[in-house]
Amino acid sequence: CGIVGYVGPRPSEGILISGLARLEYRGYDSAGIAVIDGDGTLGMRKRAGKLSVLRDDLKRTPLPDGTTGIGHTRWATHGGPTDQNAHPHLADGGKLAVIHNGIIENFAALKGELEADGATFLSETDTEVAAVLLAREYHAHGDDLQAAFRATVRRLEGAFTLLAMHEDHPGLVVGARRNSPLVIGLGEGENFLGSDVAAFVEHTRHALAIGQDQIVSITPGAVQVTDFDGNEVEVEPFDVTWDAAAAEKGGWSSFMAKEVSEEPDAVANTVRGRIHDGAVVIPELDGLDDLFRGIHRILVIACGTAAYAGQVGKYALEQWARVPVDVELAHEFRYRDPVLDSGTLVVSISQSGETMDTLMAVKYARERGAKTLSICNTQGATIPRESDAIVYTHAGPEVAVASTKAFVAQITALYLLALHVGRVRGVLSEGDSAQAVAELEGVADKIAWILTHEQERTTQLARWMADTRSVLFLGRHVGFPIALEGALKLKEISYIHAEGFAAGELKHGPIALIEPGQPVFVIVPSPVFSPLLHDKVVSNIQEIRARGARVIVIAEEGDAAVLPFADEVLRIPLAGPLFEPLLAVVPLHIFAMGLAEAKGLDVDQPRNLAKSVTVE
Ligand code: G6P
Repeated sequence: CGIVGYVGPRPSEGILISGLARLEYRGYDSAGIAVIDGDGTLGMRKRAGKLSVLRDDLKRTPLPDGTTGIGHTRWATHGGPTDQNAHPHLADGGKLAVIHNGIIENFAALKGELEADGATFLSETDTEVAAVLLAREYHAHGDDLQAAFRATVRRLEGAFTLLAMHEDHPGLVVGARRNSPLVIGLGEGENFLGSDVAAFVEHTRHALAIGQDQIVSITPGAVQVTDFDGNEVEVEPFDVTWDAAAAEKGGWSSFMAKEVSEEPDAVANTVRGRIHDGAVVIPELDGLDDLFRGIHRILVIACGTAAYAGQVGKYALEQWARVPVDVELAHEFRYRDPVLDSGTLVVSISQSGETMDTLMAVKYARERGAKTLSICNTQGATIPRESDAIVYTHAGPEVAVASTKAFVAQITALYLLALHVGRVRGVLSEGDSAQAVAELEGVADKIAWILTHEQERTTQLARWMADTRSVLFLGRHVGFPIALEGALKLKEISYIHAEGFAAGELKHGPIALIEPGQPVFVIVPSPVFSPLLHDKVVSNIQEIRARGARVIVIAEEGDAAVLPFADEVLRIPLAGPLFEPLLAVVPLHIFAMGLAEAKGLDVDQPRNLAKSVTVE
């Protein structure tokens, strides 16, 4: 869910709605706002559906102007996406409004307690329980909103960002966070709260990151941060490095189209400033060599697309840093008593830095004594704050739910890390390192080449295939995780059944799926750098061709061996074996996007998904 809050001199409705528009990637099942107007009356409107439904509703019947407000865009957990279950939730006779992101795990017990007290509920949500509890505490604490808020959050278990305001206290918004994101935006005579800086970046780039289990109160002239007991705490100021325009669609048909076009920049910016005299130097890791010296194992944890980036990174980490690497889905990791010690480095990967599954896995690993490093794209996010070290990807804000430019930036960051660790551990020669660095520096231009030369043909192919019911993706070695990513992207945004396989595994089962006309994408390794693998994959292509598959190959320029067996060939430039995935994934991103567009679907906001899933 996405959360925004405002106090200041300006009417808040427009500020809340545009903030929510920037947070819609966090969920778009329903949306709502509450404002306190000049007479000190609280007005609230909430609607199921995307933000546009709420916006139209407010246009038809506006709320009175109010300079204090909170807004919410929801990804349903407790209770379906209905008007009633949307946030804000009101209590205290409609005077108190609350919005919430996360899950309150003890909500059933609290609800029982409040019902026994005579309370009634309008929705099925855990949030309304927090609102009603806050109202009770408010009266118990002599109408002191801040004290009541502290008493309330102390009773909540689970993960939450909670914002509240009361019409008896215009000009005050209180917020709390536990394991869910919340940042403060500092303006002139006005202040903001948001799940992410995107909520307020058009008004201010000065921000404060709030820590775990902290409470914030904002008024137009002041910001106060305390712990759950009311003791003041220090908070870390930071400036947002990108401006509002970076999070806007510009002239593009969708955010995804814009973000795919930014894949070369995402790679180049992630590399920038991290190479000196042909060697990798990661300033953030300065003085942290001990993190890498004594380790005997690296465990990469992530979810979704980030996990596939991790699977690609494994090949580079093992080759250059000579450390055994396991890659695991974050939500599987901590439920099986994993073997961890101080010789294990846990590398988490997350675009948002907020994915709850990943966050919980990082905390678990840390508690068990492992070292932790996070690769993240979002400043001030929770996961990097919970880690011993951080390497940022510099992909810029990614808005479309399906991750594209962040994926190539994550692989790039993992490669930089692998080269760094290899040198620190003394297992990577200067020459090999320099060669890899030169390759890495050339990747951005090669991606740009694909966008210029192959985008149109790939999109055309996607249009022809708009009625396809199932697509398979095959890859080997580093091409295998790319096949998985190609399939995931297609599922996410075009709702077509898609599966990725290791090409060699095909004959052990999945080949039974092949029937005449079945489209299969095959990522073909380089005949120059990986001739053995190349020939194996060409054999795999022949096996599926013999059974009637329609074969679309992604192959290096100049690879003539694939031509006799391919129905379509999408070309990528020549690149060293580890660098091919950064190229081969680009046509797959374009293909998924082209197909979803051809079906008339919303590529930026696919059904049932959210970009940042902040519940377990
Ligand atoms: C969600 C999104 C995916 C994303 C995954 C990990 O499931 O829908 O697109 O890959 O989370 O997100 P993260 O922010 O941790 O990289």
